[in-house]
Amino acid sequence: MRKGFIFDLDGVITDTAKYHYVAWKQLADELGITIDLAFNEQLKGISRMDSLERILEYGKKENQYSMEEKEAFAEKKNTHYVTLLQELTPADLLPGVEQFLKEAAEKNIPCGIASASKNAPFILDKLGIKERFSIIVDPNTLAKGKPDPEIFLQAANALSIQPDEAVGFEDAQAGIQAIKSAGMYAVGIETQEALEGADQVVKQLDELSVDALLRV
Ligand code: BG6
Ligand code: MG
Repeated sequence: MRKGFIFDLDGVITDTAKYHYVAWKQLADELGITIDLAFNEQLKGISRMDSLERILEYGKKENQYSMEEKEAFAEKKNTHYVTLLQELTPADLLPGVEQFLKEAAEKNIPCGIASASKNAPFILDKLGIKERFSIIVDPNTLAKGKPDPEIFLQAANALSIQPDEAVGFEDAQAGIQAIKSAGMYAVGIETQEALEGADQVVKQLDELSVDALLRV
């Protein structure tokens, strides 16, 4: 019997990848690096600094900047990204999310957020669903990012459930690996990437039933 649900945010609850892309692309352009949408797929689920490192490697500029300069680049990208996030409203919830969370709340099933994003509380607030989550893991407290299971294990612990009592939801391969390494049931939300190792793959949350997932 499953007792709690743990969600990734970007790509599962709402589609922020397009805003990340606009902000990274502008910064990359300024650094003389051209990125495209296909490259952007690699940045899903990856932390802000790791995303910057990947962009610099892609442009063969990984050894050109000091740590202070890199931090300033990441900060600049984030300021732009947060400006774009101002546009978010509850209408930006992905299909089925609102209904799924409502049903979980009616059945007193605790829900948590395991996202690499430091902007998660702000995004959930803009989407009008922050109160649906009992916990939001603070990525600043993590030693390792996904695919390490740490973030999902911390979420289960904070929800006072065992890992094998949790269902995790992810749209990125690194996230599915993290959920499986944590010993949880993994639901993959499929976009372009095929999600290897997921126990179940859907296109959107309205294909799922809360009751059926509690029995997996
Ligand atoms: C993840 C996104 O959820 O959060 C990544 O999939 C992003 O693309 C990461 O880099 C960190 O986000 P933020 O908001 O802290 O820059
Ligand atoms: Mg994601």
